[in-house]
Amino acid sequence: MELSITVNGIKFPNPFLLGSGPPGTNARVIAKSFEAGWGGAVAKTVSLESAKVVNVVPRYGRLRSRDTGEVIGFENIELISDRPIDVWLDEFRQLKKEYPQHILIASIMEEYEKSRWQELTRVVQDTGVDAFELNFSCPHGMTERRMGSEMGEHPDLTEEVTAWVTEVSKIPVWAKMTPNITNIKEPSLASVRGGASGISAINTILSVIGVDLNTLRPLPTVEGYTVPGGYSSQAVRPIALRMVSQLALALPPQVSISGIGGIERSHDAIEFMLLGASTVQLCTGVMLHGVKIIDELKEGLARFMSDKGFETAQEIVGKSIPFFSTHMDLVQKMKEAKRIRAGESSRDNDWAEKSITEKTEELTSERTAENA
Ligand SMILES: Cc1cc2nc3c(=O)[nH]c(=O)nc-3n(C[C@H](O)[C@H](O)[C@H](O)COP(=O)(O)O)c2cc1C
Repeated sequence: MELSITVNGIKFPNPFLLGSGPPGTNARVIAKSFEAGWGGAVAKTVSLESAKVVNVVPRYGRLRSRDTGEVIGFENIELISDRPIDVWLDEFRQLKKEYPQHILIASIMEEYEKSRWQELTRVVQDTGVDAFELNFSCPHGMTERRMGSEMGEHPDLTEEVTAWVTEVSKIPVWAKMTPNITNIKEPSLASVRGGASGISAINTILSVIGVDLNTLRPLPTVEGYTVPGGYSSQAVRPIALRMVSQLALALPPQVSISGIGGIERSHDAIEFMLLGASTVQLCTGVMLHGVKIIDELKEGLARFMSDKGFETAQEIVGKSIPFFSTHMDLVQKMKEAKRIRAGESSRDNDWAEKSITEKTEELTSERTAENA
């Protein structure tokens, strides 16, 4: 089964990448993931001056299922990498030397200044990384320096900054989008006008994970206080899927999509591919379950392909996109189908006779079980 996929001229051994964050903290952990079989990695976001990046503890918060205790939502108030750029440059070089077949993507972020973005692009590019991901999307902390989602929320800035980078970059540039915006198509299309060859979506959703009812303090609590953070993990997946599908419908066909948000298993990853992603990235899933989840991701994708008769991973990309329509059209299709079926019962009687939960059940379309 051909799991490799060529995106923007880069051959990925498989579509599964570590997303920027703790799974790509340094060369050691990235090397381990390459050994485990990941197709590539987006390293933790780097900037020119790591001394300005100061993290807090605790910086994570978890939301668990009431029934099973499984973690379904995750909040972080972590910043970008606090490791010096020179250390990173050495590590990028070393990784490309030792793992030439694995794809290494550098995530970069800077203040709103052309010379800084271009200097960062040049020094990182010289190490031999395969592509850039522009972080226009971290929703907290860095925004106080007008970085991250402070840029991603403004299409004029995503266009301008992407153009600064593509002016000096000789490798593909992906722009990573924030979901904390009404219409994700606008900053994405603006980045494409600036020369981006791919869009990564999504970064985390602004959130407050909860409040401690004993201390009355919102979580995660640092010396009694907090700030809203970024929400990830399974709970965000439907929002990410919606945004990826919107991008698939709006972007020019040569622009690639890297799907991110709540992916833990092959089932989740395949959904993103069906909606237009040619690669997928996993961050929280790897933090919670370890790099070994790559085995199930690859096996599940290969099984799906053989069951459904796909020969290459590329064939899956965007296969479900033609099945989006308008509400008016759904109504029309339903009317036609109803005309064929006899004996429609009165809707009011139906609601009166059944409980609200029974009625909800009747109107629900279930996501298939993982191993069905
Ligand atoms: C602890 C943590 C740190 C993160 N740091 C970064 C980062 O430095 N740069 C970045 O682009 N995204 C960062 N992200 C966002 C992830 O790459 C990803 O977009 C998001 O978490 C959704 O995917 P997931 O549900 O697989 O985690 C971070 C996420 C988490 C949970």
